[in-house]
Amino acid sequence: MAAKKAEQAKMTEKKAGDNIKTIGVLTSGGDAPGMNAVIRAVVRTALANGKKVKGIRRGYAGLLDEDIIDMDAKSVADIIQRGGTILYTARCAEFTTPEGQDKGAAICKKHGIDAVVVIGGDGSFQGARKLAARGVNTIGIPGTIDLDIACTDYTIGFDTAINTAMEAIDKVRDTSTSHERCSIIEVMGRHAGYIALWCGIANGAEDILLPERYEENFEQRIIDNIKEKRSLGKKHHIIINAEGIGDSYEMAKRIERATGMETRATIVGHIQRGGSPTCRDRVYASMMGAKAVDLLCEGKNNRLVAYKDGKLVDYDIEEALAMTKDLDDYMVTMSKKLSRK
Ligand code: ADP
Ligand code: F6P
Repeated sequence: MAAKKAEQAKMTEKKAGDNIKTIGVLTSGGDAPGMNAVIRAVVRTALANGKKVKGIRRGYAGLLDEDIIDMDAKSVADIIQRGGTILYTARCAEFTTPEGQDKGAAICKKHGIDAVVVIGGDGSFQGARKLAARGVNTIGIPGTIDLDIACTDYTIGFDTAINTAMEAIDKVRDTSTSHERCSIIEVMGRHAGYIALWCGIANGAEDILLPERYEENFEQRIIDNIKEKRSLGKKHHIIINAEGIGDSYEMAKRIERATGMETRATIVGHIQRGGSPTCRDRVYASMMGAKAVDLLCEGKNNRLVAYKDGKLVDYDIEEALAMTKDLDDYMVTMSKKLSRK
């Protein structure tokens, strides 16, 4: 009886998915390396399932401007290796209003878009949720270099960003050593310290400043640390600063004044968001893009694709947005032990 019911439910789901004839795809919020690989996977998986695909350019801003293009298999040729997003991306204040969301849903209907795959971060998923509530099936895919999406262990772009930042920091370290300087290197991450923590470990930094582990007296602790390491003969001092902590240039001035050690600040900046995606980013992007279309074909709606505990899974968007996550405590403790000398 239960098995029959489950079978019937599956058939109903399949019918719901069959109603989707055209899938829209958009990238929203900050771009991330690997977004093109997702777009490619969405387009090609949709076509393989007999769906049409429309690209919505410039995120929700482009949706409201009806900046919508037809996509075929050729429109995504030669992009898997490219950084950025061929669909462009934007932030759009109007879409955060109920009027903007009504307009967006009406434009989807006007263009025959039955479902939208949204590639972005938490803000973009809020938008996806609002579209779903207005009758447009939506699936979100985590695309951000910040790794700050709670429901998933992996976000597209993080792997490329940390490798880019790591290489940049290695270069700063060379000159820092030559000049026997202190270097504060600021990496991105908005309010999250994942990029800082990974690079801090990978680059053997003396200090790592993380928003999640903010200490009131952190500058004094660093100053003491620099003095102590210098007395032990250490020639340079590398500090990785997560951007959420504060102004690296001002911090450099204060540290130089307090320690007498020449100090320079380097902001790695937007190079972390660009460049050709790593193999890992390309492969996970491809899997997540394909999974989003598979979910739509199964009649699923208002879901986020995630990678959790070694598996590709999906969550209800509300449920996913209510989740929280933190840096791995073991990594934080270990990073401190490894920088002791
Ligand atoms: P991210 O997706 O990387 O977190 P943002 O927070 O900048 O980036 O959000 C991207 C876009 O998503 C915003 O510019 C806006 O158009 C849309 N958005 C953000 N929050 C909401 C919301 N609460 N409701 C509807 N749309 C939203
Ligand atoms: O979310 C990605 C990110 O690069 C953050 O790390 C950073 O805080 C922010 O976007 C920068 O945004 P913008 O490109 O608007 O300067």
